[in-house]
Amino acid sequence: MVTAAIGLEFVKQFLNLNNPPEFVFACCRDPATATDLKEIVKSNSSVIIVELDVTKQESVEKAKSHVASIVGTKGLNLLINNSGLINSQRIGDVTREDMLKCYEVNAIGPLMVAQAFLPLLRQAAGQQSSEPMSCSKAAIINISSGVASITENSSGGMYPSRASKAALNMITSNLSLDLKTDGILCTAINPGWVKTEMGGPNALITTEESVEGIMSVLEKLKGEEDSGRFYHGVKGQTIPW
Ligand SMILES: NC(=O)c1ccc[n+]([C@@H]2O[C@H](COP(=O)([O-])OP(=O)(O)OC[C@H]3O[C@@H](n4cnc5c(N)ncnc54)[C@H](OP(=O)(O)O)[C@@H]3O)[C@@H](O)[C@H]2O)c1
Repeated sequence: MVTAAIGLEFVKQFLNLNNPPEFVFACCRDPATATDLKEIVKSNSSVIIVELDVTKQESVEKAKSHVASIVGTKGLNLLINNSGLINSQRIGDVTREDMLKCYEVNAIGPLMVAQAFLPLLRQAAGQQSSEPMSCSKAAIINISSGVASITENSSGGMYPSRASKAALNMITSNLSLDLKTDGILCTAINPGWVKTEMGGPNALITTEESVEGIMSVLEKLKGEEDSGRFYHGVKGQTIPW
């Protein structure tokens, strides 16, 4: 079994930056069992564990209040929506429940999280209003998937995963338009096929390689033209929707 996860690797790589953020809010559904995160917190007081289940509105609101109570008027510069669920059912087996579950975690959850955290992102953007859009100003990064691309779909199947991540892509595009005047950058990123519980042991890259690639894409995002796009986190180029 693979225990590495992309979210945990994000926390590690943000801490390793030359100029790390003042706070890294690491969200998970059950902080009590988040042993790897708790180990990191022991030696890094800037990491704050926040309980969040993106499928429960009350949990989303509580997480937002938790973060707001710590950042105060500085707001939040970067929101990474990393929650994800895979379901590869094909036309013969897919159920209504399969579809709903994937939509909840992959599309509706990230949208409601973006909505809840918007006041904090606006606060951060407002403090650098003359600066071009960037992840150090204010940004929403949605972790999508290669299977979300309608243009690149050549093998079919995977109804819950494909449809829900394609919905996340539309949400990303929409957010980029709606939040343009706020100066908030919104982009979707495919992390590649990664060795995690979701990607499995045969995946092509490690979490370290995936997140290194994503971090270098994030660093380069500058200005309106880089918002509302769908990037490959490792190869760096855009992917057709
Ligand atoms: N691995 C791949 O090959 C691959 C390929 C394409 C896209 N992705 C995307 O990359 C992201 C990270 O996936 P991963 O590979 O690291 O998979 P993973 O190890 O299975 O992790 C799934 C993540 O989603 C979170 N999550 C699931 N349901 C949630 C909920 N209801 N509320 C809040 N968080 C929830 C989990 O949080 P907990 O800590 O609370 O469990 C965990 O952080 C996902 O969006 C996934 O779709 C991965």
